[in-house]
Amino acid sequence: MTSTAATTRGPLQVTAKVFSNKRVGDYWHLTLVADGIAERTRPGSFVALAVGGDTSGALLRRAFSIYRVRPAGVYGGTVEIVFSARGRGTQWMARLAAHDPVDVVGPLGRPFALPKEPVGCALVGGGYGSAPLFGLAERLRERKCSVHMVLGAATESRLFGALEAKRAAHSVTVTTEDGSVGIKGVVTDALPALFNRGVEVVYSCGPMGMLKAVTQLALEHGAWTQTAVEEDMACGIGVCMTCVLPVVGDDNVTRMVRSCVEGPVFAGDKVRWDDIGTVPPGTFGAPRSGGR
Ligand SMILES: Cc1cc2nc3c(=O)[nH]c(=O)nc-3n(C[C@H](O)[C@H](O)[C@H](O)COP(=O)(O)OP(=O)(O)OC[C@H]3O[C@@H](n4cnc5c(N)ncnc54)[C@H](O)[C@@H]3O)c2cc1C
Ligand code: FES
Repeated sequence: MTSTAATTRGPLQVTAKVFSNKRVGDYWHLTLVADGIAERTRPGSFVALAVGGDTSGALLRRAFSIYRVRPAGVYGGTVEIVFSARGRGTQWMARLAAHDPVDVVGPLGRPFALPKEPVGCALVGGGYGSAPLFGLAERLRERKCSVHMVLGAATESRLFGALEAKRAAHSVTVTTEDGSVGIKGVVTDALPALFNRGVEVVYSCGPMGMLKAVTQLALEHGAWTQTAVEEDMACGIGVCMTCVLPVVGDDNVTRMVRSCVEGPVFAGDKVRWDDIGTVPPGTFGAPRSGGR
């Protein structure tokens, strides 16, 4: 298929078909044939899936980072996601089988920004948060950046992609909190060694607490940061304001910013991590006293 700039811009809504749905550790790896989305995807974007089928009362779509895409081939373009079956929607997704239809909107959100120069990059993923880092690693390597992956989780079964990382990155460090594999500890334990090896850019995706800790450490080492946040979402397309978080603009003014359209990727130093879940005093448009 020939794609042009005009045909590969903006999200699409498609009725995708399940190609496969496999268990990987504690997660599910779902591959969807979703024409047109693969060609539009850049690392860091996400898709929003309608869950529960045609007669479902679940009105809100569920958001998932895009793990991998393959442009149209024998089966049409495919989009892959990795998910944890934690609630009603994702448990329904875990029961999906080959050929089942799924309504998908994507790609959504702002992707990771890429460095112009070939610099050292650390890609830090927590749990399934490592999924969107593989496409990113590929793009960074095309730009001659050195790519160091740090994958962490509470335990081995909640890691994702540790084997694949060996092919995708120049170096891989695995951490688990219980020491079941890799270094016993958390991802931030592995970062100082990478700063000593010249890493200047840190990308991260995972739980909010991890993103905050990674960003703080990176800033202490003078590194540039890009974080993909996972704020609860409802519409996924910028109309409901469910997904807002306080972000400092270039003019030094804090605004409540929609993570579904202005994110999910943000420069880590711009996010007011300690104030997430609040409208901090002084935020543009907030009442003078601020409030929760
Ligand atoms: C940009 C973005 C990317 C995401 N990428 C992924 C991904 O790659 N893989 C993946 O598994 N999930 C991802 N998520 C989270 C995913 O959207 C939720 O897990 C999903 O919506 C849960 O739907 P559910 O119907 O199963 O759970 P619900 O019935 O909606 O909730 C069930 C339980 O899970 C909790 N829960 C729901 N959403 C979250 C959340 N975001 N974080 C923590 N707890 C939550 C609820 O509080 C509740 O206790 C992402 C979210 C965002 C915003
Ligand atoms: S989820 Fe509705 S504005 Fe972001």
